[in-house]
Amino acid sequence: MKNIILSNKNKVPALGFGTYMLYGENCTNAVIEAIKLGYRLIDTAVAYKNEEFIGTAIDYCIKNNIVKREELFINTKLCHHEPIGYQNTIKSFRESMKRLKVEYLDSYLIHWPNATKDGSWKQLNKETWEAMEELYKQGLIKNIGVSNFEIHHLEELLKTAKISPVLNQLNLSPVWQQKQLVDFCRKHGIQPIAWQTIVTDEWAKSTLLPIACKHSRSIPQICLRYGLEKGWGVLAKTDVKDYMLENMAIFDFKLNDDELAKIDSLNSYPANHVCQPDALYGILEYVEKTTAKTLIDEVKFKLFNVVPFFKVKYIYRDINLYQIKYYLFNFLLVWRNKFKSKENSMCYLLGFIPLIKIKRKIDSTGPKFIPEYNIEKLCRM
Ligand SMILES: NC(=O)c1ccc[n+]([C@@H]2O[C@H](COP(=O)([O-])OP(=O)(O)OC[C@H]3O[C@@H](n4cnc5c(N)ncnc54)[C@H](OP(=O)(O)O)[C@@H]3O)[C@@H](O)[C@H]2O)c1
Repeated sequence: MKNIILSNKNKVPALGFGTYMLYGENCTNAVIEAIKLGYRLIDTAVAYKNEEFIGTAIDYCIKNNIVKREELFINTKLCHHEPIGYQNTIKSFRESMKRLKVEYLDSYLIHWPNATKDGSWKQLNKETWEAMEELYKQGLIKNIGVSNFEIHHLEELLKTAKISPVLNQLNLSPVWQQKQLVDFCRKHGIQPIAWQTIVTDEWAKSTLLPIACKHSRSIPQICLRYGLEKGWGVLAKTDVKDYMLENMAIFDFKLNDDELAKIDSLNSYPANHVCQPDALYGILEYVEKTTAKTLIDEVKFKLFNVVPFFKVKYIYRDINLYQIKYYLFNFLLVWRNKFKSKENSMCYLLGFIPLIKIKRKIDSTGPKFIPEYNIEKLCRM
């Protein structure tokens, strides 16, 4: 397995085995199979509720001489469902180690940037990071890092961190490349590791398929290879042995400049991706406090807000509920502030015009024409 050298000179496998949604015996068997086939990076998280099943697999593989502990790279992540802080981090880390049946972790990440709308995330991330640094100093974690941290989260963390993060696990794929964030990570010696890199969007397949055919590979292989060419580490999850093998066969071919450029052009706009911490928490907070009735009452310009909601639903027939709420949330955010300044009016236009023009464009080019605008900036307005 090819490795990537981190800024602290440690190595991380360029391809990792993802375990999100794997559970129970199925999870244990899948991890054992993956290790037997040659996967060395195993990715999990407290939130996946499968650490103990992975622990069983690791234990089995070591006891049966399938692999040595030092050949494995075990990564887990702090739970993101509640704010963490110093003491909880130490406690959560020890519980994870126990479930994973290991004496040390190869990497440990803050799963989400403790995003909260009131700004308390800054202190929470600082305290959490202090605990991670302490565990690192004790040799209990080989590499410390973060996940889903955006530029402003990293900037804030770097202000006080004594040991810089070396990893940032991010949603990165041909349709969501987060170039600015990836460049920022590189500049600061933080290795991006991509999750959900395998594209399933139908509109993108017409670009990916001819490239896949030319190389006699599958679309998942092209997506993962693209990630490697971009310098990302990549993760892939499956419990199907053939797919495990397929996903490993990405180191013996290269995409040419023309193919890379075609895939680059698939990058789409942020509103298509719900996994942006601030926006996501914003939505959750908003949705939690908002019943259908209060939503309608609260909105001053009912028509303008409700119409795009249905429009989006109509345009993206396979859109999920969170995505709809995300669009609505963005729209409300922009609409409420539209008259405050020239800049805000611009944001309003960026947010609103696409909603009414989107269908025509989407049919011909795919949803990639809306400039990336900064959700955090919008939230602060
Ligand atoms: N840091 C974070 O916040 C975060 C968030 C999400 C995920 N992750 C990590 O990243 C890992 C990867 O992300 P993911 O699991 O969401 O998505 P993924 O690895 O991109 O795969 C998603 C789906 O693709 C299918 N698949 C995999 N290889 C295939 C192949 N060769 N051909 C056809 N289908 C294939 C799998 O289905 P089958 O299982 O049915 O084969 C799987 O359900 C996760 O497992 C997790 O460890 C991290």
